[in-house]
Amino acid sequence: MSQLLLLRGGRPLSGEVTVQGAKNSVLPILAATLLAKGQVVLRGCPRLRDVDASVRILRALGCDARWEGEDLAVDTAALDRCEISDLLMREMRSSAIFLGAILARCGRADLSYPGGCELGPRPIDLHLSGLRELGAEIREEGGFLHCRAAKLRGREILLRMPSVGATENLMLAACGAEGTTVITNAAREPEVVDLQNFLNACGARVSGAGSSAVAVEGGQVLHGCVYRVLPDRIAAATYLCAAASAGGDIYLRGIEERYLATVTAALRAAGCDIRRDQAGLSARCAGRLRAIGPVQTAPYPGFPTDAQAVLMAALLRSQGATVFEENIFENRYRHVGELTRMGAEIRVSGRVAVVTGVERLHGAPVRCTDLRGGAALCVAALAAEGETRITQICHIDRGYEDIARDLRALGADAERAEQTENDS
Ligand code: EPZ
Repeated sequence: MSQLLLLRGGRPLSGEVTVQGAKNSVLPILAATLLAKGQVVLRGCPRLRDVDASVRILRALGCDARWEGEDLAVDTAALDRCEISDLLMREMRSSAIFLGAILARCGRADLSYPGGCELGPRPIDLHLSGLRELGAEIREEGGFLHCRAAKLRGREILLRMPSVGATENLMLAACGAEGTTVITNAAREPEVVDLQNFLNACGARVSGAGSSAVAVEGGQVLHGCVYRVLPDRIAAATYLCAAASAGGDIYLRGIEERYLATVTAALRAAGCDIRRDQAGLSARCAGRLRAIGPVQTAPYPGFPTDAQAVLMAALLRSQGATVFEENIFENRYRHVGELTRMGAEIRVSGRVAVVTGVERLHGAPVRCTDLRGGAALCVAALAAEGETRITQICHIDRGYEDIARDLRALGADAERAEQTENDS
């Protein structure tokens, strides 16, 4: 029987949690280990289902990856394969990130087309067009990508849109290219900067990450390193929203506000007292929140699409109506149906969702639809009267080490339990 989350809402939070390492940092960094000759130790690597999937891919390529306490040690010297099976590719949508690194390391790569996911089709046309500009020959056949690159040559690449994954894939391929590559209209997310910092710690010459132009001087021989990944700004946003939803007084250790400034600005506008110090962020939320101005998701430094669902959940009992506009993914309101089962009032029309605050929410049996939608159900459950049973929590475990553990540390009544035959 699989597990579910049991949350009992109605009481304010009080407590402290140390923010886990960032899922969206560690996944591209694990792909980047293919470029380093020597052992890489990732300090504070988060134990996530997506990290487990990446470890399975590395091992399937012949590499060594093992946990040493909180750290993950990877040594890719023994790599002896350049293809990733359909089964492994389908386990994790972002496995496309391995393409650039395998090509740079081996000169060839064969992997199946990464599937779509709950958020809709997840095209990789920008990844493929950029790799072709670097000199890769890519044949798409029967759902498989057959890539060959006897020599990758650096050049300027203009991205049609600031895709995070395409920026990262091209940074990795460019490390193995001759000459310099400049990626313009690059994604500016903090996780892209973290990848640059990791690559440079291995001896690469990457600059400009965090701006719209990332330059990579290829051909460096990369060595191993010991590296601590960035804290997870979306996990931090989730816990701030939990405090906003339930009320209370919490402290998040190890996160810098600058990584989630648009989220803290939204929560302050709603009436939360959020303060930063040199070690983290505190949030004090009391009384009914106010509705806020339109929330429009956008590439960094805009409002992060990954925080849209959890902020929506935090505002379900606010005074007034808040308009959300989801501009990054086409199917990112799947949590709305589950939230309305708890008494929320939300109307969706295309990219726009309007949340009208209600006085009360009630616990209900609900089901995760995707990673951040599942986290939003937890946030809403903390404000609901009674018990909420959340199933399909495998989605949540992809990106949160142990959300029940962290919510309990913040004072919530939250636990994992075995599903019964009555649970959906
Ligand atoms: C990364 O996904 C994150 N995942 C996502 O986090 C995050 O939501 C997203 O960036 C946006 O910030 C990881 O880093 C592992 P994109 P990615 O390429 O790289 C379209 C989470 O919850 N697009 O910036 O896939 C695409 O369809 C996850 O932690 C193309 O059209 O995001 C989407 O509409 C969810 N062609 C938009 O661009 C391409 O070749 C943004 O995608 C690539 C993307």
